[in-house]
Amino acid sequence: KNILFAASESTPFMKTGGLADVTGSLPQALNKIRENEVRVILPFYEAMDESYKKEAVRKASFEVPVGWRVQEAHLYELEWEGVTHYFIRNEFYFGRDDVYGYFDDGERFAFFSRAVIESFPYLDFDVDILHAHDWQTGLAVAFAGILQPKPGLRTVFTIHNIQHQGWMGPDAFYDVLNIGPEHFAGLEWHGMINCMKAALHHTDKITTVSPSYAQEIRQPYYGEGLDPVLNARSADLMGIINGINTDDYNPATDPNLAEPYTTSRLKKKANKRKLQKQLCLKDDPDIPMYSIVSRLVEQKGFHLLEHILDEFLQENVQVVLLGTGDTAFEQSFAYFSSRYPEKMSALLRFSEPLARQIYAASDFFIMPSKFEPCGLSQLIALQYKTIPIVRETGGLRDTVQPYNEITGEGNGFSFANYNAHELLYSLRYSMLVYHRPELFKPLIANVNRSRFSWKDSAELYNGLYEELV
Ligand code: GLC
Repeated sequence: KNILFAASESTPFMKTGGLADVTGSLPQALNKIRENEVRVILPFYEAMDESYKKEAVRKASFEVPVGWRVQEAHLYELEWEGVTHYFIRNEFYFGRDDVYGYFDDGERFAFFSRAVIESFPYLDFDVDILHAHDWQTGLAVAFAGILQPKPGLRTVFTIHNIQHQGWMGPDAFYDVLNIGPEHFAGLEWHGMINCMKAALHHTDKITTVSPSYAQEIRQPYYGEGLDPVLNARSADLMGIINGINTDDYNPATDPNLAEPYTTSRLKKKANKRKLQKQLCLKDDPDIPMYSIVSRLVEQKGFHLLEHILDEFLQENVQVVLLGTGDTAFEQSFAYFSSRYPEKMSALLRFSEPLARQIYAASDFFIMPSKFEPCGLSQLIALQYKTIPIVRETGGLRDTVQPYNEITGEGNGFSFANYNAHELLYSLRYSMLVYHRPELFKPLIANVNRSRFSWKDSAELYNGLYEELV
């Protein structure tokens, strides 16, 4: 089967979130399954690394209708880690500093989605399945259904986060899209054009990135207004948990670590000491270290953390936070780190090497998300033998089993309600377990056994593709 992934980001070319990790590692896993070839099509961002821009080869140029006008698209090709990547270049839409956040994002990704469909004759790839990811490529699925670029073409649409849907005013139907008025209803939601709804209406199959999230988004609390659409299509909706690239996220070979390790807690502690010195935290390897590596946005549950951080920092603990995001969160965490300089370090920036040093150094990883389609950080944490403390939602619920000291089962700590004191209770309980070897050892043994490679999930996607063709 020939499968074309369409997405707005993918590692290593462009990344703002977990979506890029998935579109950057799932194709390799799928290509290992016989008779599959996955290729990826992305926008050509002028802000991409120069080396990729230089290596990419132009294959074709063609016109893409955008409302009453025409925009040019240049198709580029580049092979990376055995996967063929295509890029659609148009300086007006993608020659900007940022990936998202412009007034015309709807038009930018409508153009890209249309260009994906118009590129079919130039790809030298006989696409059986178009697999699009998130709202930015939702219209590609809709165009595939409406324009039928190839007989028998089937479509899959994956929801990585239903909070972002790609809304455009109704005028955009004529101003940006070139399709007959009879197609308005399929794209419309509450009088507006909604790119995600358009995909849910037209796609053959819908997936999302964990089984729990697949259930949750059928309810109003998590569905962000699209729950009726998902309920109507529940027979074609399925949750498949994400994996991570375990060759890349590997504490035994990670070149960023002072002391590589597999399961040795002593070596892990050496990484902790190094970070304590570097961040001017109290130099004592026996103090439990809690970490957070995240975009600082409401989704990740920072309102809960904010409320109990002062109380938690009364304990003999250390908290290290890395990430950027909403100003209010940045300021609040900066305040706590100035108030407790020996205990808390708020690093308000992003650095991949530092992220890995933090995963390696810390004992616990805090992720109290309000909602979490899958979540990759808790999986990375487990890879680095760091114990996740999570709220039971979406992919967090599916990957972290709460520790049960009676049965000895579980690979982390979790709590059910979106409640700051439930988080505090879990944090305190984790401290207690940390200081009691007879409880801590079985927990660590379970953490060491946790595996989240792509293999099983790739098989599930493959089964879905097989059903379609
Ligand atoms: C989004 C979701 C996250 C998920 C990622 C990859 O970023 O918020 O939970 O892991 O997509 O699917």
